[in-house]
Amino acid sequence: MSSQNTFYITTPIYYVNDVPHIGHAYTTVAADVLARYWRLRGRDVFFLTGLDEHGQKVQQAAAKAGIDPQTHCDKLAPQFQTLWKRLNISNNAFIRTTDQQHKNIVQQYLQKLYDNQLIYKADYTGWYCTFDERFWTEKDVENGLCPDCKRPVEQISEHNYFFKMGQYQDRLIEHIRQQPNFVCPESRRNEVLGFLTTQKLSDLSISRPKSRLSWGIELPFDRDYVTYVWFDALVNYISALDYLPPSPSQDRYWPASVHLVGKDILTTHAVYWSTMLMALNLPLPETIFAHGWWTVDGEKMSKSRGNVVDPNQMADEFGVDAFRYFLFREVPFGQDGDFSQAAMVGSINSDLANGIGNLLSRTLTMIERFAEGTIPEADQPALPTLEEQIVKVARTLPLRIERGFTELAFRDNIQSAWELIGYCDEYIDKAAPWKLAKNPDSHGQLRTVLNTTARALRLLAVLLYPYMPQTAAQLTQQLGFAFDFSKALPENSYEWNAPIAGVKICKGPGLFPRIESKSQGANTVSDIPKPLQPATATPATAATAPQSPAPSAPSSTPQAPPPIQITIDEFVKIQLKTAKVVSAERVPKSEKLLKLQVSIGSEQRQIVAGIGKKYEPEALVGKTIIVVANLKPAKLMGIESQGMVLAAGDSEVRGLATILEEVDPGTKVK
Ligand code: MSP
Repeated sequence: MSSQNTFYITTPIYYVNDVPHIGHAYTTVAADVLARYWRLRGRDVFFLTGLDEHGQKVQQAAAKAGIDPQTHCDKLAPQFQTLWKRLNISNNAFIRTTDQQHKNIVQQYLQKLYDNQLIYKADYTGWYCTFDERFWTEKDVENGLCPDCKRPVEQISEHNYFFKMGQYQDRLIEHIRQQPNFVCPESRRNEVLGFLTTQKLSDLSISRPKSRLSWGIELPFDRDYVTYVWFDALVNYISALDYLPPSPSQDRYWPASVHLVGKDILTTHAVYWSTMLMALNLPLPETIFAHGWWTVDGEKMSKSRGNVVDPNQMADEFGVDAFRYFLFREVPFGQDGDFSQAAMVGSINSDLANGIGNLLSRTLTMIERFAEGTIPEADQPALPTLEEQIVKVARTLPLRIERGFTELAFRDNIQSAWELIGYCDEYIDKAAPWKLAKNPDSHGQLRTVLNTTARALRLLAVLLYPYMPQTAAQLTQQLGFAFDFSKALPENSYEWNAPIAGVKICKGPGLFPRIESKSQGANTVSDIPKPLQPATATPATAATAPQSPAPSAPSSTPQAPPPIQITIDEFVKIQLKTAKVVSAERVPKSEKLLKLQVSIGSEQRQIVAGIGKKYEPEALVGKTIIVVANLKPAKLMGIESQGMVLAAGDSEVRGLATILEEVDPGTKVK
């Protein structure tokens, strides 16, 4: 039995043949946020995710591709594993239901239930939905369509094995009533209770004849059958503890602290899994939390609509931490939400660039300018009422945040942190440190302002780490603290009074550049916006005033203009990527222009490039070149160009920029 100090968190195991989308990323990042928080608080965390690899869909897709199902799964699995690395997911283990050890355990459990007469064979006629991999009864099906995904269902009559799920109905109702945190949020708990108290719970078909479906786990007591997808998939939560390091760890981690699931698979978890566990005499998980679904620009997300949100693309365009942050700031966890790029850009600009990013940059600039780069001791009060308010909020924040993490109220947590940011902004604006700096009598107050804002930022870094781990690392590094977020932090890290004076800051690049919306013509250097200025500051003294070079004095002798310097923030806006030339042809009536079709990973682009004097089109096919991938499309001689190639030379092209090593098209160049 797990101890109080462990925290075992799971995501659903995803169907291997889906392309990972925002829904998968949502659950997985949520689990990561919880895992990171509890690790920092010193709990012994085990975070499991993985893949559901059996079933009809995989079998059909593999057959279509002319390969065996295992090879098909092996080819697809990395798309999830790579995405999780990209999104900084800190899972401790990754399970695949085709792992031999998992299959053995499923068979052991099946045998145990069979030996205890909890599994029996019977005739069965039902309506099968291949998409959801489940049977429905006659009354569930409406007009021949699956009640869940609205796809056509198929009537199937066959002998099958059944798990005596129905006999656990009363016990399950009792458990849900007794344990208010077992099914969350409350609205979902009421739904499950409503269903269980008004309908008779039937037994669960757990098998398919091998003649119909061979890609599954054989029933140990009847080799002509394989187990039906849910009996295989749900067992992963325990089988992983048996064989994935630090295995064996069932005693250490079971029962799970939280199973995170989407609302569509709540019944399978709250009812199928719970009753399976009861039959196996195993304790039930502490919490099954069902989150809501994302729509996209107000519409259901689907392949046919072509609006599936690709987390890789979001990370490319907006950065991993901004994407992670947005998922939890936008809607309360548990409710449905709508995703739109406009909302995402809005939140990046308002909360990240203007909020935390600007607060850090103002504070560090002031410490550099007014305190020689070292956080000073607090001294005389500058604005006592606001200072008291900041301290009051900051002191209660760790407890509020802990409650938020216990209740999975991620959005409340974020709002609490931004409340502190709001007070700090107001404090700097009103205290006007740039004015205090001018008068030696006010230097005591100035030191208090600098100390207070640095203190708030240190605390914010610790509190925001689970959501934005890279940002928190940068924040603490720039503030001059060497925090090791990979381990539990000392208790006083959460305290307002943790010592900070005397720390040498190390100002670096801004955390979040503002993003101009596409319609405003982003991505050209001249469009890069200036950081916010404090409302009361004059341009000459504003702590955030950009350090633009002074205009050069008029001169009578013409001089070459000095090279324009750009900041790292400006540079990172330019997305350079490798691209493979798929085809190339001359643009009619032009000596110079070639029309290239290039592959940038998952995407193909058309680029018109002025390299026709130097290269014959055929010579370019198959070459890996470098392109600017986020250049606004433009028309050249009436032909759309969706990017730009990099080449050496001035008015005359001397050679295309390429890459020394073989790398995949679409790889970032920096
Ligand atoms: N293999 C099963 C789970 C077995 S767990 C023992 C499965 N896989 S899945 O690939 O379909 O999982 C999808 C997960 O993504 C579910 O939790 C589902 O709720 C979630 N989402 C799918 N589309 C979604 C949105 N549009 N928005 C949010 N989450 C969504 O089910």
